[in-house]
Amino acid sequence: MQRTLFVTTALPYANGPMHIGHMMEYIQADIWVRHQRMGANLVHFVCADDAHGAPIMIAAEKAGKSPQQFVADIAAGRKPYLDGFQISFDNWHSTDAPENHQLAQAIYLDLQRAGLISSRVVEQFFDTDKNMFLPDRFIKGECPKCGAKDQYGDNCESCGAVYSPTDLKHPYSALSGATPVLRNSEHFFFKLSDPRCAAFLEQWSQGTDARGQPRLQAEVYNKIKEWLAPDEAGRRELGDWDISRDAPYFGIEIPGAPGKYFYVWLDAPIGYLASLKNHLDRIGVDYEAFMANPALEQYHFIGKDIITFHTLFWPALLHFSGRKTPNAVHVHGFLTVNAEKMSKSRGTGLDPLKYLRLGMNPQWLRYYIAAKLSARNEDIEFVPDDFMARVNSDLVGKYINIASRAVKFLNAGELVAAPSQAQLDAPGLVAQVRELLEAREFAKAVREIMAFADQVNLMFDAAAPWKLVRQGEIQPAAAVSSLCLEMFRVMTACLKPILPAVAAEVEAFLGCAALDWGNALEPMGGGHRVGDYRHLMQRVELQQLAALFEAPVEAPVEAAPPEPAAFPGGEAIAPPIGVDDLMKTDLRIARIVDCQRVEGSTKLLRLTLDVGEARTRNVFSGIASAYQPQDLVGKLTLMVANLAPRKMKFGVSEGMVLAAGHADGKAHPGIYLLEPSAGALPGMRVR
Ligand code: MSP
Ligand code: ZN
Repeated sequence: MQRTLFVTTALPYANGPMHIGHMMEYIQADIWVRHQRMGANLVHFVCADDAHGAPIMIAAEKAGKSPQQFVADIAAGRKPYLDGFQISFDNWHSTDAPENHQLAQAIYLDLQRAGLISSRVVEQFFDTDKNMFLPDRFIKGECPKCGAKDQYGDNCESCGAVYSPTDLKHPYSALSGATPVLRNSEHFFFKLSDPRCAAFLEQWSQGTDARGQPRLQAEVYNKIKEWLAPDEAGRRELGDWDISRDAPYFGIEIPGAPGKYFYVWLDAPIGYLASLKNHLDRIGVDYEAFMANPALEQYHFIGKDIITFHTLFWPALLHFSGRKTPNAVHVHGFLTVNAEKMSKSRGTGLDPLKYLRLGMNPQWLRYYIAAKLSARNEDIEFVPDDFMARVNSDLVGKYINIASRAVKFLNAGELVAAPSQAQLDAPGLVAQVRELLEAREFAKAVREIMAFADQVNLMFDAAAPWKLVRQGEIQPAAAVSSLCLEMFRVMTACLKPILPAVAAEVEAFLGCAALDWGNALEPMGGGHRVGDYRHLMQRVELQQLAALFEAPVEAPVEAAPPEPAAFPGGEAIAPPIGVDDLMKTDLRIARIVDCQRVEGSTKLLRLTLDVGEARTRNVFSGIASAYQPQDLVGKLTLMVANLAPRKMKFGVSEGMVLAAGHADGKAHPGIYLLEPSAGALPGMRVR
């Protein structure tokens, strides 16, 4: 029976470009969606920009744009990421679109009718300079627990304490620097503490999806059940949820409450519905009728950091406003790159567009991510060596190579009736892979496919068609090759959700209809002609990975020199040099074994340096204004060791030690001798 599915990924904040963590989520969901479509299911796969909230409003102001313009500019940059990695969304919308304003207001009014909206006065920090209430993230101060300075209003990055902004010592506004004052304001709440909510969520969170699988992964359910279970006193963790913010706020106005806006996390998930509605309108399907279909299945793919929003607030919001609730929420862990968590704000590590610009194949990344993903909420790591090994040895070495090896032994590309091979269980493979893809066990599916590829290669090697041909046995050589190509076609069907572009090329090469689960096992058969083999996939090259992780080098730009005031350290950066120029300078770690004032000079100190050579060196340095000689003895520093000796008034200087200082030493006195980190030894080269 054909299933109808509504599938989403989390809506990325419209305050920056996508990073590799976002791409991982889209790739996971896209593989699952493509698998569903191959089963002739009808899927509507949508996403949108999460446009609202104080941080975006403030970022827009900084950029000198209206928030609408700011998020429109971000939205305009999404396409290269999505097309580049072949993410098959049916629609990309925005939470600031009219559909979302209407839906959010309608849902709120429905909740109000259900008696689940309350209001009360809340005391909050207010920035009198900016004339606005400050979100927690924009209040800073000293941690009430450990005293660390400049901590955010909600938690301390130094000791990890969690508190509310009013607990901070010496709070200040991160926007204006002003000391915030406490002010009263009426806030609206979604009454999650209502016993109806806990009762509903307890039942919902333990329910099953359309296939009878738990709708929440066990580890996800365990995480949220603490919120639902009453303690001995009968109290629950699940408290009322503050869903309003005061103007100025970039968001959706609360009906009947002028100057009040929905908190961004209220209207963000409603954006899923808004994007779907926008899509359905455009393809001429009635939204209300579509949602009323009891067989409709609704699935959300999200990361582990936004579980509570999606498994508590969101289903309750939908249920009590009389709407359909999700059939399941699929939670994934975080992708780390070189053991570093992708930061939402920094988004460093592996730039998806740089990956594409370097000519790296998006199918490699899709394959690698699939090869690492399970259905569990676990982090996965991008390890460059592992990436290269899996793509080159498995994907290309095992799977792609089957085609290039086998096609050579056909006569003008014509398949002959292939002998059946008992040990190659193609129906078994397809059934198993379908099941694993359905269950989001992508790594296991990939393992099965690669194990099958091993068997096909073994069979091919054992038959050794190249020997058969030499012995004049043209027909048996063509037969075993035909079987390999039949199996290659089956494997391609299995990999198609992961590698859609490869599959399309294989379909063209084999001259077969678009592969799906319905036709995956149909043989091409004797007499079928395959096309000319073109190489289907290159291997990853080491230089590509090196380039991918190389820090971005600014291309030399011809620009007017900046105002002198803007020069760092009081002077313009010197003209560019190449690495060769740099390497001409031999920098070494040196130990200052002795240091003396220089008679007749107020500027110079005489240093005796050990650079790990048999002798010590004599170096004069103009740092007398900054250091007492006795303070420097025993210290390590950096020296230019290959500077030609210079005869000075007081003796010969055999090198130069390195120190930093402002160009205008009068206005900005201070000279700072450089020191290596602990562990460096005299004579080590600096590069
Ligand atoms: N705007 C909210 C979501 C609203 S959904 C109604 C948000 N945006 S986000 O841009 O910060 O994150 C979007 C998605 O990317 C989330 O599911 C998040 O978990 C996921 N990821 C962010 N960093 C990630 C990794 N490093 N790895 C995998 N997914 C990550 O949260
Ligand atoms: Zn602290």
